[in-house]
Amino acid sequence: MIELCAKSDVAEGDILKVETGDLEVAVYHVEGAFYVTDNACTHGPGELSEGYLDGHIIECDFHQGCFDIRDGQVVAPPCIVALRTYKVLDHETHVVIETPAE
Ligand code: FES
Repeated sequence: MIELCAKSDVAEGDILKVETGDLEVAVYHVEGAFYVTDNACTHGPGELSEGYLDGHIIECDFHQGCFDIRDGQVVAPPCIVALRTYKVLDHETHVVIETPAE
């Protein structure tokens, strides 16, 4: 498992970019829950941590493509490829994910 940050590092409705090892992810805090996806947009050079979060939908600020942060599915073009998501494990104080399989 990988500890990404303290829960208190990410305000409600906010996004935090975290780099650890080979991973660069975006940590989202929505309605008391935490979600983690790759930070890089699957469409181009956009970083989702720079995007606009509306509920569970993240809009890339580069071409306004949108993904659902719960499952990474594309919900608005021009994105086509789903975003990688990471399972967040139960932890009292920190955002912790499973170590992703290669
Ligand atoms: S780079 Fe994200 S929508 Fe194009």
